[in-house]
Amino acid sequence: MNQTVKELMERKSVRVYKEQQIEQEKKAVIIEAALQAPTAGNMTLYSIIDVTDPELKKKLSVTCDNQPFIAQAPMVLVFVADYQKWYDLFCKYEDTVRAPGMGDFMLAEDDALIAAQNAVVAAESMGIGSCYIGDILEQYETHRELFSLPRYAVPAAMVVFGYPAQQQKERVSL
Ligand SMILES: Cc1cc2nc3c(=O)[nH]c(=O)nc-3n(C[C@H](O)[C@H](O)[C@H](O)COP(=O)(O)O)c2cc1C
Repeated sequence: MNQTVKELMERKSVRVYKEQQIEQEKKAVIIEAALQAPTAGNMTLYSIIDVTDPELKKKLSVTCDNQPFIAQAPMVLVFVADYQKWYDLFCKYEDTVRAPGMGDFMLAEDDALIAAQNAVVAAESMGIGSCYIGDILEQYETHRELFSLPRYAVPAAMVVFGYPAQQQKERVSL
């Protein structure tokens, strides 16, 4: 088994972190790896929000079904399916622009999720654990408001990252 496949096989969600920040260079690599993911029509139909404000992390830990480890995660990224940036650009060049449909939205969701998983894999390769948080979607109205997202942008995924605490390393994944 090569190293990449080994890491894919051994990955598990990490919910308890060491009190250790993620180095800026490693964070930059994780975000760059996300940006290198394939995207539909090379349109990069997503945006990434890097949540650094501790108060905002605390809020998210409550709005995402009271999961306190979100507030403790050294890095929190929200992947937004973002058709708005293209819609705004089209509006600059065309008199009439159709509103995005379900297909456009689903492509944007795909782009955002594929980028998120690239970030997860890159983090794992550097010993940094992660966990997706589905409640960012389940409470998407709340979160659109929290991040002041425009009409054609919705959260697609949230992933929290951090160095795994020893007990997480030892946790047996089913
Ligand atoms: C879309 C998505 C949403 C998830 N949401 C949560 C969540 O809100 N809280 C949590 O603790 N884990 C969450 N998880 C992690 C899953 O529970 C986990 O991936 C699954 O149980 C398999 O375990 P493993 O990742 O350790 O292999 C989520 C995973 C995905 C893919």
